[in-house]
Amino acid sequence: MSRTALVTGASRGIGLETVRRLVQAPGETTTVVMFARESEDFTAAVAELESANPHGKRIVACRVDVGDRAALQQAISDAYREVGTIHTLVNNAGYTNPVPLQQVDFADFERTMAVNLYGPFTLVQDLLHLGNQFDLIVNVASTAGITGRSGWLTYSASKAAVINMSQVMREELAIYGTRVVCISPGRTATALRRVLAPDEDPGTIMQPGHVAQVIEMLASPVGRFVDSENLVVRQ
Ligand SMILES: NC(=O)c1ccc[n+]([C@@H]2O[C@H](COP(=O)([O-])OP(=O)(O)OC[C@H]3O[C@@H](n4cnc5c(N)ncnc54)[C@H](OP(=O)(O)O)[C@@H]3O)[C@@H](O)[C@H]2O)c1
Repeated sequence: MSRTALVTGASRGIGLETVRRLVQAPGETTTVVMFARESEDFTAAVAELESANPHGKRIVACRVDVGDRAALQQAISDAYREVGTIHTLVNNAGYTNPVPLQQVDFADFERTMAVNLYGPFTLVQDLLHLGNQFDLIVNVASTAGITGRSGWLTYSASKAAVINMSQVMREELAIYGTRVVCISPGRTATALRRVLAPDEDPGTIMQPGHVAQVIEMLASPVGRFVDSENLVVRQ
């Protein structure tokens, strides 16, 4: 059966690698919707995927700021009208601006929560209101949401909330046959990680393709046998 996946934060890092795997694998996912903000990186990523699309899958790119609730709601309803049921949702977009507690700017804390927590909530709630029946929701949290890290207050708090929100979604949506899996990656060599750890050698840590491979597995037929509330993925 043909399946549609929607991946946020699809312009680079873990999100782009997830889309690449879903597009290039022969599997059931035949339509992939990519959400990210307008950027040259995003345009280049979409062009590259379209030029290396061995199974002729449908790729739909949507320019939207996941942290802008009104814009996000419009994009969700447009995407649903265009592609129909979203079987797999990967809530991956993430933002961080690590600073010590005394330097936290409240507006930036709100921005962190808007992108990392309210965005995923809005995607799930609005799609449910539109009548969408999910097979699988993958919420990307972080090991920083399990153990708070010094200097990462806003990010750690937002990711802890994602883990908890996922547990509630998992319980409430089970009656619809929807699986909800939260994954918590550890250090992964991406632009976001460079913000958190600018001096680290990216060659020594997990690569975004490794995390994407786990997400691809969750979306594959064998993924239904993974029974975990919060899957930790780390070296
Ligand atoms: N890298 C790590 O070590 C690590 C560890 C644990 C968890 N994670 C989580 O993994 C997820 C993916 O991050 P990554 O490491 O792959 O980082 P990344 O390479 O910097 O990618 C982040 C993605 O999120 C998107 N994004 C950020 N703000 C957005 C917004 N307001 N609206 C729409 N898209 C937005 C970015 O797109 P645009 O900026 O182009 O819009 C980009 O596609 C995040 O949730 C992150 O917290 C990462």
